[in-house]
Parts: sequence; C-alpha cells; structure tokens
Amino acid sequence: MRGDKLGDFLDNLVARIADYVDQSHNEGQKTVDYLPASSRKKTTDLSLPLEGHGTESVLDDIDEFLKQCVKTNRPEFMNPLWGGLNVAGFAGEVIAALTNQSMYTYELSPIATLIEKAVIERMMEIVGYGEGFGTLTTGGSNGNMLGMLCARQYADPMSSLNGFDGTKYVAFVSEEAHYSVLMSANVIGIGHQNLIKVKCDSGGRMKPESLLEEINRAASNDRVPFCIIATSGTTVRGAFDPLREIAQIAHDNDIWLHVDAAWGGSCLFSRRHRGLMDGVELADSICWDAHKMMGLPLICSVFLTKNKSVLRSVCTHGDSAHYLFHDDTKDVDLGRYSLQCGRRNDSLKLWIAWREIGDSGWAKMVEKYCDLSGYLEDLVNDSEHLSMMSERDWSNVCFRYEVDDYDLNELNTEIRNRMMREGINLVSRSNIGDDVVIRAVVANPLIDEKVLRSLITSIERHGSEIINNIPAEF
Ligand SMILES: Cc1ncc(COP(=O)(O)O)c(C=O)c1O
Repeated sequence: MRGDKLGDFLDNLVARIADYVDQSHNEGQKTVDYLPASSRKKTTDLSLPLEGHGTESVLDDIDEFLKQCVKTNRPEFMNPLWGGLNVAGFAGEVIAALTNQSMYTYELSPIATLIEKAVIERMMEIVGYGEGFGTLTTGGSNGNMLGMLCARQYADPMSSLNGFDGTKYVAFVSEEAHYSVLMSANVIGIGHQNLIKVKCDSGGRMKPESLLEEINRAASNDRVPFCIIATSGTTVRGAFDPLREIAQIAHDNDIWLHVDAAWGGSCLFSRRHRGLMDGVELADSICWDAHKMMGLPLICSVFLTKNKSVLRSVCTHGDSAHYLFHDDTKDVDLGRYSLQCGRRNDSLKLWIAWREIGDSGWAKMVEKYCDLSGYLEDLVNDSEHLSMMSERDWSNVCFRYEVDDYDLNELNTEIRNRMMREGINLVSRSNIGDDVVIRAVVANPLIDEKVLRSLITSIERHGSEIINNIPAEF
C-alpha cells in the first residue's frame, strides 16, 4: 500500500485508536462483554481464508477485535498487576513495530542498542549495582528463570558446557512466590521437588529464620543449596520479603540471591516506599517488569545482575553464530547477553516514557497508587460486610465479603463470577491459604476514589443479592 491509499488507511486506523482511547473515559461503559468461549466461537468469524479478503477486511477485523477485547485501559480493570494505557509507551511500541529492529547486534539496531544499554544502566543505578549488566527478557517469568540459570552457572561453572545433574541441587523460594519459579526449576534441571518453599509470616513475607533452617536441613541431607529467590511484591498480597536479612544468609552460605521484583520493583523510585526493598543492592540479580506497575505495553521486562561474567557465560552459545556476532562489536552486541536470537525492541517504549516523566513522575505514580490502595483499604474497613484478608504493603488489596452461616469461599467466588459476567469491575479471585479472597490492584492511571467507591458498592450489591437469593440480571 502506498500514497493516498496508505494515507487513508492510516487515518482510519488512527481514528479507531482515538475512539478506543476515548471510550476508556466514558462512564457506564463495559470493560468486557462477557461470553463463554463456546458462544464467542460461534458468533465470530475466526476462519483463515484461502483467498485474502483484501484491505477493507483489515479495518473490519480490527473493529471486531476492538469490540470484543477486554478494555484493559478502563479504570475498572483491576484484575491483574497492570492496566491503563501509557500513551508515550504506546507510541514507542508502534514505532518499535514500524521499525522492526532486532536486538541481537549493534550493526542491525544501532540506536536501539544504545537506548537499551542506557535503560539497563539507569535501572542498575537505581537498584544500587555499581557494576554488572542485564538484558530485556520476555517477562518476570523468564527473568526468574535467567536468575536461576545464573545461579546454576555460579554454582557449577561447567554446567553450560557439560550439562547438569540437578537432582542434588536445591533452591529456596517463599511459599507465596510466583508460579514461574516452578517452570524455572523444571527448565534449569532441578525439578519442582527441589524447589523448597520457605514459610512466610502473617503478612506473606519469607521468614529468614525458616530460610536458614531449610538451608541447614538441606545441607545436612547432602543437598547443594545454590539459589534463593526472594520476592519483592508477591503476586497475591504484594508482600516484600526482607532482603537485607535474606542477603546476609545468602552471603554467609555462598548462595546466589535472585530478587523477583517483577511487581514491586517500581517502589525503588519512591523515597517513601523504597525501604520495602532495603538491601536489594546486596542481591546478585533481579528482574523488574516495566509492563506491570509502570504501565508500559506488554512486553517490557528487565533482568539485571551484578555479575556480568556469569550472565555472559550463560549466554556463550551466541559465540557460535558467526553470521551475527563479530569481534569488533563484541562490547556492544546485546545478543551476547540474551537467551533469545531475534528479539523485540522493548526498551524504546520504556525510554520514551521515562524521558517524558522522569524519575519524579514514576515516584508520583507509585505514591498515587499506594495512596489509592490505602483509600480502598479504608473503604473495606468501613464496610459492614467486607474484611481485609491481609496486611497491605503495596497496591494489592485483598479482602472478602463476610456474612454468618455461609460458605465464604463459595460466596466470594460467586460474587467475583457475577462481576465478571456483568463486565464492569474486573477483579481477581485469589487464595490466601485456604481462603478465597477478592484481589483488587491499583495499577492503572485512570483509577480514582470514585472508581474505588463504585467497586465497593458493586461488591456489596452482589453479595447482598446472593445471600437474598436474587438472581443476577445478566
Ligand atoms: C511476583 C511475580 N513474579 C513474576 C511474575 C511473572 O511475570 P510475567 O508475567 O512478566 O512473566 C509475576 C506475574 O504476575 C509476578 O506477580
């Protein structure tokens, strides 16, 4: 497509984008039209044709997609650990797709390489790493895997060459760690069983004394403790493990410490909240998702380590790619520090968004989200039927509807299901221990006190309708 035709097409596309963004501000609009997959499949044409439908169909297909998708930019979207639309980040995403750089070599992505290095170096400074390096990954899950792979390499420097018998090696995580650590244990070759879950305190934070007990127990059973993964911002409760004490244990026992700060890493911008990650600079590696609280479009996630040479030896497979990597650019080619070959330019959007608002803008964002979640907590505490189900350190608010003589797990599951079918306020159904809780997350720039009040009203209404046997109207 060229010339006028391309111009018209792009105008039409931009009009749709503007409309989609505008709709996020319209009150009373749904976040999703809930339909089970079986019905949606019947009512949507998903077929891939033998002969193409032509350019017109591109806009029709986009219209259909925009109509049916979950409107993650609406303020009532509080289900996962992200939401809203960062416009500068969106612009960066569009330009990244337009220019289609691949991040393996400086030769093929010169400016993008320098931008990515600038982002990594700045984030290292914020974490407090005087030296080291990092890479952008496909998310916190793979950031955790890379952390464990570095730990493995540190414990057994020949493992990337000779392979690894992981049956004796054990790693430690809190019992509230993200499920991706199981995947990591599988991929690096220790298996799920060798991932030891350490007890947490009542707020969901790893207990250092239990960690030490588990390490000693493992060592006395002839196992090799080689990695601790601490979490800064757990998925359900937003709890922060005590990094300084955990780091001391890691150092005393010469164990690699990786911090999963996929969710909580942004606290480092705020003087008020930075203390939650006190001691992070003592850890060996960290992952931090800019696509969570910082609101960058998925995917935007950073892995950092103090120990550049370990990351480099994990990634030496790149040296065999003679068609990509050459000696004269070996100091700048980012592909030598990545598990990927072709890799998206995810740093551009972060760099653009960061330059727009600066560190101070991120700090304000963090503080606003924490203040709003404090407001939500107050609303829960003021409500006759709602109770907080955990202390709150971050912007996760976990609570439930309570009434006598009811199975509260069933009741709260049904409240959440009705909300999902209604399609306005989207929150998550999670578990804390055996209890079903409603988890609302403040990580969306359009959330304000009014939105939070209407969330509470909606939960109270559904709860009351269920206990009074009033059927849902949708
Ligand atoms: C604490 C924590 N770590 C890691 C992840 C995984 O991140 P990603 O979805 O970017 O792979 C999540 C996702 O919610 C998380 O909450």
